[in-house]
Amino acid sequence: MESATVTASRRYPLEREIRVGLCGCGVIGEGVVTTLLRHADIIGERVGAPVRLVAVADKDPARLDIVRAQDPNIALLDDAFEITKRDDVDIVVELIGGIEVADRLVRAALDAKKHVVTANKALLAERGAALFALAKANGCDLYFEAAVAGAIPVIRVIRESLAGDRIRSVRGIINGTSNYILSRMANEGAAFANALKAAQEAGFAEADPTLDVTGGDAGHKLALIAALAFGARVLPSEIPTEGIEEVDPRDIQYARKFGYAIRPLAVAEHLEDDVLDLRVHPALVPLTDSLAHVDGALNAVAIQGEMVGPSFLSGLGAGASPTATSVAGDIIDIARNSLAGGPVRTWHLPSERDQKIQPIADLSSRYYLRFSVRDQSGVLAALSGKLGDSGISIDQLVQDHEGGDAGTASIALLTHHAREGDVRDSLRAIESTHFTTAPTQLIRIVE
Ligand code: HSE
Repeated sequence: MESATVTASRRYPLEREIRVGLCGCGVIGEGVVTTLLRHADIIGERVGAPVRLVAVADKDPARLDIVRAQDPNIALLDDAFEITKRDDVDIVVELIGGIEVADRLVRAALDAKKHVVTANKALLAERGAALFALAKANGCDLYFEAAVAGAIPVIRVIRESLAGDRIRSVRGIINGTSNYILSRMANEGAAFANALKAAQEAGFAEADPTLDVTGGDAGHKLALIAALAFGARVLPSEIPTEGIEEVDPRDIQYARKFGYAIRPLAVAEHLEDDVLDLRVHPALVPLTDSLAHVDGALNAVAIQGEMVGPSFLSGLGAGASPTATSVAGDIIDIARNSLAGGPVRTWHLPSERDQKIQPIADLSSRYYLRFSVRDQSGVLAALSGKLGDSGISIDQLVQDHEGGDAGTASIALLTHHAREGDVRDSLRAIESTHFTTAPTQLIRIVE
């Protein structure tokens, strides 16, 4: 493997070198070390000056041993804050994750006039406005391509390539772990827990995988997408969010019969009058839609712009090497900015707008509903009658028997468009009757 020392001995058009300090050497951090060392030659050529990893900090000595084995010239530290104090560091890469300590670390780096690259979507979704303001005040760059959809350059595309267009909607699969789990359940009949374990072993999942399967991770990413696409200042807690834990293998099978796949979706749409439709939930996606064929840990983002029409990006949204490549891209961009003498190209959050998030009860959508009912005469008529009472019209319906329970049946149906509040009211009325045997499954259809 080529080391940073070799890079430093090359000749470059620019005399300065750009020095990087890495905070956090877990799955992604180790990928960043490998990328910066293995690709030192091409990175240097593309920047016009060497980009050198000078220091790595991690509390776990075993992780530092792995770095030492790759390049003994890199300073190894157990305290990430030491990196922000070093005179020989120009760019601090924050990969420690979490919010409180990471917040202090990024602030310390910016206050020390160091540029920052982070993959921390939770931090930016919760505290981004203050951190971008601090970066600007200090004349520093704060880059975060790796925070959303791993290797897919979704931040750059929205922030730069499509900056001249008015974005109408962004729909995507932006959590690899959830997509991996649903894909394994669909393709191999895997149990939820086994598929999650495999995703963790492959390095896709967050340190706390609850964030993946409950939709929290996708909510963080969607808040960042909404900020870039619509200038929205929205906290993840304001985004209606549901995880994939309640998706049953039966739902995947019924969906397929109806011509749909179930995918973990994040939706951001600019409705009229500055109302935003933002939501994260599993969704039935027609098999004719490209999103239905984004399998495994792959992510995909479909963007609809006023002028550009539809764009579709897909790629690896999680894992060490893809995510590390996005970190390296940010380092290269900042290095170019620095060598060009600035000014920094920190993006500007638009001033606060009076935008509202549509309450989920007001959503107009088609729905997949699966009822567990007694297998008795009159039940189907009563059920469709109750739906009809709330103005909910059935589009397609199948009925079969649930495995095991004699005397019960499953009724799975797709509705025509309906207001979600009305659907929920109707389900409450249906569940209060004597003929339901378990809570009803509701999954939104996105098409
Ligand atoms: N846990 C995340 C995922 C990693 O599964 O997509 C990338 O943010």
